[in-house]
Amino acid sequence: MKLLLVGAGGREHAIAWKIAKSPKVDKIFVAPGNGGTAIENKCENVDITDIDELIVFAKENEIYLTIVGPEDPLAKGITDKFKAAGLRVFGPDKAGAQLEGSKSYSKEFMKKYGVKTAAYEVFTEVNTALLYVENCAYPVVIKADGLAAGKGVAICETKDQAIEAINSYMIDDIFNGAGQKVVIEEFLDGVEASILSITDGKTIIPFISAKDHKQIFDGGKGPNTGGMGVVAPNPYVTNAVMKEFEDNIMAKTLTGIQAEGFDFKGIIFFGLMICEKGTYLLEYNVRMGDPETQSVLSLMESDLFEVIEAAMDEKLSEITVNWKDEVSVNVVLASEGYPGEFVKGYLITIDQSVQDNVFLAGAKMEGGVLLTNGGRVLSVIGNGKTIEEARETAYRNLDLVKFKDSYFRKDIGICK
Ligand code: AMP
Ligand code: GLY
Repeated sequence: MKLLLVGAGGREHAIAWKIAKSPKVDKIFVAPGNGGTAIENKCENVDITDIDELIVFAKENEIYLTIVGPEDPLAKGITDKFKAAGLRVFGPDKAGAQLEGSKSYSKEFMKKYGVKTAAYEVFTEVNTALLYVENCAYPVVIKADGLAAGKGVAICETKDQAIEAINSYMIDDIFNGAGQKVVIEEFLDGVEASILSITDGKTIIPFISAKDHKQIFDGGKGPNTGGMGVVAPNPYVTNAVMKEFEDNIMAKTLTGIQAEGFDFKGIIFFGLMICEKGTYLLEYNVRMGDPETQSVLSLMESDLFEVIEAAMDEKLSEITVNWKDEVSVNVVLASEGYPGEFVKGYLITIDQSVQDNVFLAGAKMEGGVLLTNGGRVLSVIGNGKTIEEARETAYRNLDLVKFKDSYFRKDIGICK
């Protein structure tokens, strides 16, 4: 059986690694892939990103199923186009992908179906947005409506910061159109949790919880990044939090998906804020998180391909997804300077003994060697019976992976 996996991140390397373990899968083409999928078992990179070209490739190569990793192609309607061409594809349709593609849409969806979330207002006029922040409570959160590669959220402590954010989004247009509409919302104080889940449109099965460490510096300081490391399960997600999530967020989301008539066989990622006054939904993503996926899939005992097949057949209610009784920590090794400017093209060396614990992201294979090719270059996994054991293993493994001017956080897994 031949599969096509769309994407090029650490998430896609982890998905490819996990799916390659399925005895039912013979070959995985990864489009465009990265240095990790270039050398992963059963995998071959194909240098295509255009959706129409992917359709031609899938037909010519008799691809049994296409799995879409990132949000961009989903928001562009890759699922609708593949289906119209008679091809099987895992990922929500364009309408469902709006849950991530438009913050105002997703907030309206949450309100309509009673999903617990922060209070908010939507603005399309710069003057009314500026007027609103004159008298609102601080801190306040200002979000670009559209996709902004994880950079579209500003937490503003003061009115000056809020004015600056609004001007940069709406006047300077720093997100190329994605910030022409803004959501301004109530700041929630708490701890974050990521819950990835799979749905077939009838059932949602949550995966094991995860905690991302978003800021660049230790202790959660400095600017936000795509994520600098993860611990899974998330120690803050108690049974009580999980119950609240299932009742106030997950079940209502499923009702909404059905009522809106989305064709949603895919991943839904809930970004939660656990606060004293309860558990809130910050956002939906319609794909797996990066680097959450690397840890979550390393703990999954079930065959991911079979789980996805059950979703494709609308049979998720008939299966259970099994997890190892372990903790996974993954630490991202980034290029010095990220999330700002950084240099690419350094040689990466990975000791043979830890090869199976490394997921490559911003890395490419060239002339038979691995070279850095992005901000977040790779992540290194360590699993153990406790967080401490997982942390020790992850950092010991990290010592065996090297490239020039690398940077990593030393406190991944420490949750105060
Ligand atoms: P989002 O893209 O909506 O997940 O936002 C990115 C990050 O901004 C989140 O992971 C949070 O750290 C933070 N954030 C978003 N919304 C809020 C909020 N209402 N209150 C506090 N922090 C938030
Ligand atoms: N790590 C957070 C995300 O993938 O959005």
